[in-house]
Amino acid sequence: MQDSTQAVLRRFVVFEGLDGAGTTTQLKRVEAALGSARIPHWTTFEPTNLPTGRLVRQVLRGEVEARPETLARLYSADRHEHLYGPGGVLERLGRGELVVSDRYIFSSLAYQGVACGPDLPRLLNSGFPLPELLVFFDLPATVSMGRVDGRGEREIFDTLPFQEKVRRTYEESLSEFADSGVKILRIDATKSIEAVTEAVMEGIGSILSDPATP
Ligand code: TMP
Repeated sequence: MQDSTQAVLRRFVVFEGLDGAGTTTQLKRVEAALGSARIPHWTTFEPTNLPTGRLVRQVLRGEVEARPETLARLYSADRHEHLYGPGGVLERLGRGELVVSDRYIFSSLAYQGVACGPDLPRLLNSGFPLPELLVFFDLPATVSMGRVDGRGEREIFDTLPFQEKVRRTYEESLSEFADSGVKILRIDATKSIEAVTEAVMEGIGSILSDPATP
C-alpha cells in the first residue's frame, strides 16, 4: 500500500538489507569510488548521529527501554530531521550532490513492520519523498546473522527468527514499490565485496547518465 503521491528525489540513492548485509562497508567503498570519479556527493546513514538517532541507538543497544511503537516514531522523527534539517538530504540534493544513505524508509517498513505490524510504519512513512534508486543487498538471514555474530555485538533486532521475518517483509514492501518510480536494484550480497561494489556503481552510473536526471 504505497502512497502514489510520494515524490521521487532525483539523485537520492538508498541502501537497504538485513543486518550484516554489508551496506555500511559498501557505503565506504562507494564514497571512495565517487570521490575518485570527482562526482559531488554526500554519504549518510540512518539512524543518524543527530540527537534522535543517538537515542534510537541507545534503544537498540538495550540501554534505554522503549515500546516498539515508540521506536517506530523515533525512527521517523530522526528521518524527518535527516531529510529537512540543516545540512540534510534536501539541502545536499539542492546543491547538486548525489546523496547515498545507508538505510531509509524501507528499513522502517521492514523492521517496524515486523515489530509493530504494517499499519503504523506505513502511516509514519507515507509522507516522506522516495529515492531515485533503492539498492537492496539480498542475502539469507542465516548468512547475515553469521556475519553479525563475527562482529561480537548484537542489537535488539539481531536474532535469526526476527531477521527471517524482516527479509520476507522487505520482499513484500519492495514489490509494493514496483510501480512507484523508484528504480530497484537487487544485488546478491553473498558475492565478493568487490563484485558488490561494482554492481552498486553500475546502478549509480545508470541514474547519473539517465536524461531524466538533471
Ligand atoms: P544499522 O545496523 O544499519 O546501523 O541500523 C541499525 C538497526 O536499526 C538495524 O537493525 C536496522 C534498524 N532500523 C530499523 O529498524 N528501522 C529503521 O527505520 C532504520 C533506519 C533502521
